[in-house]
Amino acid sequence: MSARFNPTHLEALEAALPPLRERAERALEAALPAADAHPSRLHEAMRYAVLGSGKRLRPVLVYATGSALGEDGEALDAPAAAVEMIHAYSLVHDDLPAMDDDDWRRGQPTCHRAYDEPTAILVGDALQSLAFQTLVHGSETAGVPPAAQAAMASSLAWAVGSRGMVGGQAIDLSAVGRSLDAAELEDMHIHKTGALIRASVQLGALASGVTDEATRSALDRYAKCIGLAFQIHDDVLDVEGNPEALGKEQGADAARDKPTYPSILGLDASRELAERLASDAVEALDGLDASADCLRGLAAFCIQRQA
Ligand code: IPE
Ligand code: IPE
Ligand code: MG
Ligand code: MG
Ligand code: MG
Repeated sequence: MSARFNPTHLEALEAALPPLRERAERALEAALPAADAHPSRLHEAMRYAVLGSGKRLRPVLVYATGSALGEDGEALDAPAAAVEMIHAYSLVHDDLPAMDDDDWRRGQPTCHRAYDEPTAILVGDALQSLAFQTLVHGSETAGVPPAAQAAMASSLAWAVGSRGMVGGQAIDLSAVGRSLDAAELEDMHIHKTGALIRASVQLGALASGVTDEATRSALDRYAKCIGLAFQIHDDVLDVEGNPEALGKEQGADAARDKPTYPSILGLDASRELAERLASDAVEALDGLDASADCLRGLAAFCIQRQA
């Protein structure tokens, strides 16, 4: 493994991860409607899709970006909850029979299996609007300046729309059964997964009030690299992961004839590429001090995780 993956970075991450995940879960719990609030079946299903297990990578990125910039206050909670709600919505829709048709997610039946398809569609719709409501309202309460609130809402909207995550999902669906070349595959992954990961870092930076252009662009380069590395590793885990640890079915991509990095480059070249991207991500942060070690550790985490 490259010298860029320094054990100190992983130690910083290991110490930070449990409290940051708990913090993200508290922010989500506070923002989600109570399970018995009318219409209760929908609200119960929203909580089912969001709470429980999940690595919470995207909110942790918001918090870790804040820490790298000297911010760890309440201003980070709204963007952290918002990016995880968007992510949970994307998983609920991704698992629908019309898309990947999966039965397991996060170690439990997928939302449409536990409830029903119309409910799962509405869960995604409602989580998306709750994400933006939480982002704006929570940021206002935390005293984030209006210009930063607007920039965060705009950045997230761009990242998850047809020119970002949803566009990537459209490319994914249109690619089933076709062979993509490496550039097309990269384009699909950058959109379907990379865009929200990139937005998570951007929101963390905006909530922290960063103005320095060099720091912003270093963080953006970092985020782009880990976003692609994360989805390449997701493809690798679909081939060689353990379904118990993953909490979702393994082998689903091959069963559905999805173009993936292992199917196009092979497993070894996919692993090497993911490792190189994670190393580039760490390199992008060379101008930042040790307060960015948690971000550095997250780059390694993206390609070493078993779940
Ligand atoms: C799964 O994301 C979907 C992809 C974008 C690859 P995660 O692997 O972050 O899923 P959770 O949140 O931990 O369940
Ligand atoms: C999911 O990609 C991307 C989004 C949900 C936007 P995958 O379809 O590869 O994710 P998994 O493998 O089902 O978690
Ligand atoms: Mg999919
Ligand atoms: Mg899927
Ligand atoms: Mg996958």
